[in-house]
Amino acid sequence: MAEKLDKTISIALPKGRLGEKTYAMLEELGYGCPGVMENSRKLIFEDEAATVRYFWVKPSDVAIYVERGAADVGVVGKDILLEYQPDVYELTDLGFGKCRVCVAGPENVTPNPDRTLRIATKFVNIPKSYYHARSREIEIIKLNGSIELAPILGLSDVIVDIVETGTTLKENHLEVKEEIVPISARFIAGKAAYRFKNDEIAAMNAKIAAWLASKQ
Ligand code: PRP
Repeated sequence: MAEKLDKTISIALPKGRLGEKTYAMLEELGYGCPGVMENSRKLIFEDEAATVRYFWVKPSDVAIYVERGAADVGVVGKDILLEYQPDVYELTDLGFGKCRVCVAGPENVTPNPDRTLRIATKFVNIPKSYYHARSREIEIIKLNGSIELAPILGLSDVIVDIVETGTTLKENHLEVKEEIVPISARFIAGKAAYRFKNDEIAAMNAKIAAWLASKQ
């Protein structure tokens, strides 16, 4: 029994659309587990054969669970990997969850290049390294959501945020000024898990790779 439990792969799923897509893919690959998609307050799900165990966590927390070994593998946006640089293996680009991290600001307004650029964002390191490479003085104003409000209310000159369809920007009379980096979902593994459950994780990753190839 203990042997069997040891080989269970713990999977951190990001709550929301990305996690739902991830689960749909894993279910198709034979890693289905009853109850995962039921709308309940339950947080942990395990299949009868104890092949997989799923947790739903906040998207920005997936990498922390995986880095610290509380989950063996997970799926996370590339933006989180760039921002937090967790010590994990980035195994596969899943090709979904596509969006861009962009600098955006009020339509037809160019910030004064001689003044410190005030940036509202939930990211800190992505804008810092982007503007450091361009020798541009910046001030980061860290927010946790509704970032688009900041330049409208004069709290910042621009925002650095995720743009997917562009609808949020458009509805608030903001526009993309610069694209920093394209993003997609990544399948990640913890370093210890990758060593101790290598066969299981490698098999899962190979199935994912074959699934991706079949979609092309
Ligand atoms: C993200 C992002 C934008 C929006 C962009 O927010 O921060 O607000 O999506 O998507 P769009 O280009 O398709 O309009 P999210 O919904 O993740 O919520 P948050 O504001 O709490 O981060």
